[in-house]
Amino acid sequence: PPISLVGVPTDIGAGHRGASMGPEALRVAGIGEALAARGLDVVDRGNLNGPFNPWQPPVDGYRHLPAVVAWNRTVMQAVGTELAHGRVPILLGGDHCLAIGSITAVARHCREQGKRLTVLWLDAHADFNTSTVTPSGNIHGMPVACLCGFGPHELTELGGSAPTLTPDRIRQIGIRSVDAGEKKLVHDVGLDIYDMRYIDEVGMRRVMEEALLNLGADDHLHVSFDIDFLDPAIAPGVGTTIPGGPTYREAQLCMEMIADSGRLGSLDIMELNPALDVRNQTALLTVDLVESLFGKSTLMRD
Ligand code: ARG
Ligand code: MN
Ligand code: MN
Ligand code: MN
Repeated sequence: PPISLVGVPTDIGAGHRGASMGPEALRVAGIGEALAARGLDVVDRGNLNGPFNPWQPPVDGYRHLPAVVAWNRTVMQAVGTELAHGRVPILLGGDHCLAIGSITAVARHCREQGKRLTVLWLDAHADFNTSTVTPSGNIHGMPVACLCGFGPHELTELGGSAPTLTPDRIRQIGIRSVDAGEKKLVHDVGLDIYDMRYIDEVGMRRVMEEALLNLGADDHLHVSFDIDFLDPAIAPGVGTTIPGGPTYREAQLCMEMIADSGRLGSLDIMELNPALDVRNQTALLTVDLVESLFGKSTLMRD
């Protein structure tokens, strides 16, 4: 299916400035050309527009809530348009708060098409904070909670009514940083978390087999890829590095097994921060992994 790149140049939900430059760094690293070289039909829609980051402290547990809502409305609209045209949207972030708008659009599309949605959330963090338990007020630590109906109504009801998703539709992979209050929340809602300990114990192959199990022929798979999922030794260009993430080989296998499922319908590439990167290496690595996600392999396979 044809692909649309949609840039979202903002760090409105983050705790470090710089993710606003992510879309351009991915373009400079050749994301469009790499996908086109795979024979895919790729169109770059350019960047969305939204409010400037005022860099203010949190108010009632949320930093920049009105601006986060504005950006997410715009993202929801843009992603919805691409899906309605039968295209695979690739959101070039931008910080991870934007996954609220992206996944709300995907969930609506799936409802209209009578398709079941599965979300794979690749991240070091669970992103399940709420205004009362957040250590930072940064909304990029809250998108999964918002999608499950926990958060400000402007975000939980972005698509009309809450919740946008039930926790059983989400599988999180690579998790190794969950805040104290957040830990209780993800336990209470029963979120399906393949944390680093589990990856260490059973290996990435079995983790992906389990995470992709029971995908129906008509299911829509959405991947929300936070670049801090990767080990910071190979991916330094993110604002919230956590040691002990997947290696290059583990990340490649993860992407290849998603590609093999044949169900990928939409993708977010989030949290790339060129201001913290080294000669764009994290963007180049991301493009390499995204090629695998879209089916690139060393040998012909059947
Ligand atoms: N848990 C921390 C917080 O709430 C960090 C969240 C990081 N999220 C991210 N999308 N990088 O502030
Ligand atoms: Mn579709
Ligand atoms: Mn993260
Ligand atoms: Mn995240």
